[in-house]
Amino acid sequence: MRGEATGTAGGETGTAEVQALFEWTIERDQRIEPRDWMPGKYRSTMIRQIAQHAHSEIIGMQPEGEWITRAPSLRRKAILLAKVQDEAGHGLYLYSAAETLGADRTDLTGKLVSGRQKYSSIFNYPTLSFADVGVIGWLVDGAAICNQVPLCRSSYGPYARAMIRICKEESFHQRQGYELLMALMDGTPAQREMVQDAVDRWWWPSLMMFGPPDADSTHTAQSMAWKIKRHTNDELRQRFVDMTVPQAAALGVTLPDPDLRWNAERGHHDFGAIDWSELKRVISGDGPCNAERIAVRRAAHEDGAWVREAAAAHASKQARRERGAMDDAVEKPGREAV
Ligand SMILES: [Fe+2]
Ligand SMILES: [Fe+2]
Repeated sequence: MRGEATGTAGGETGTAEVQALFEWTIERDQRIEPRDWMPGKYRSTMIRQIAQHAHSEIIGMQPEGEWITRAPSLRRKAILLAKVQDEAGHGLYLYSAAETLGADRTDLTGKLVSGRQKYSSIFNYPTLSFADVGVIGWLVDGAAICNQVPLCRSSYGPYARAMIRICKEESFHQRQGYELLMALMDGTPAQREMVQDAVDRWWWPSLMMFGPPDADSTHTAQSMAWKIKRHTNDELRQRFVDMTVPQAAALGVTLPDPDLRWNAERGHHDFGAIDWSELKRVISGDGPCNAERIAVRRAAHEDGAWVREAAAAHASKQARRERGAMDDAVEKPGREAV
């Protein structure tokens, strides 16, 4: 099923005809669908991007998930539970989208837990107080929205459609985070300090979520040409900064960057230099929580082995039963004819 359902007719390079159809589809801003022919490189780039995104959603459940049992009220617990559950759903849509390209889910999970595929570096930072839950919603989900809204127009159909629903939910996440921070800023001096401390810790890693600067980004040009990506890393980062500065002012927190100021000439905010060595270090596995995140994910996968075995046994039993029913149906008219 996999070979024929994933548009490999024409091979990796394809005939001139299928190549032209692919280019024409992209040019007209239409979607590439699972059965369409696509260049091997397009397929592998999409699988890598969607898998990395799916892994980020699933690993991203951990930093906030740690606070579900410690939420300060039933209301906050219910909100956080719903948010973390949404992230699991995002992971599921995305793994399903990767499967339409012929990727195997077990293989993708194997690549995640063995470190061969990445997830967003932001989830390798610890959540030290409940204010981190609010700041993650505000800044991390906010940055995710900036990154992901343009992906609703990604040239790969199943990914673009998954992103529409995901973005709606991310927008709820951002609002719940901001609402939580407003409540804390309305509280005691200690609560306000807790918010400022969380903002100080999450601001720079949030800016790093957009990836390396355009000059160092290896995949940008081809991904833009294929309309997998609609804006460069630096454009999206700038959009996020411009969007966030007035929100910080309304909240009454200071963003930890002495160089942050409005540039009337550019019509954008200027901001200070990002420590790219930190991003490289965290991506290559040396962030504060990398080992812990992967260990938790691996343990969850191993603990779930019996569920997968039971589900597979049930599915094959069902299939046998259905086959038996079909055989009976085929046999019956024969017997009647005799
Ligand atoms: Fe998400
Ligand atoms: Fe989210």
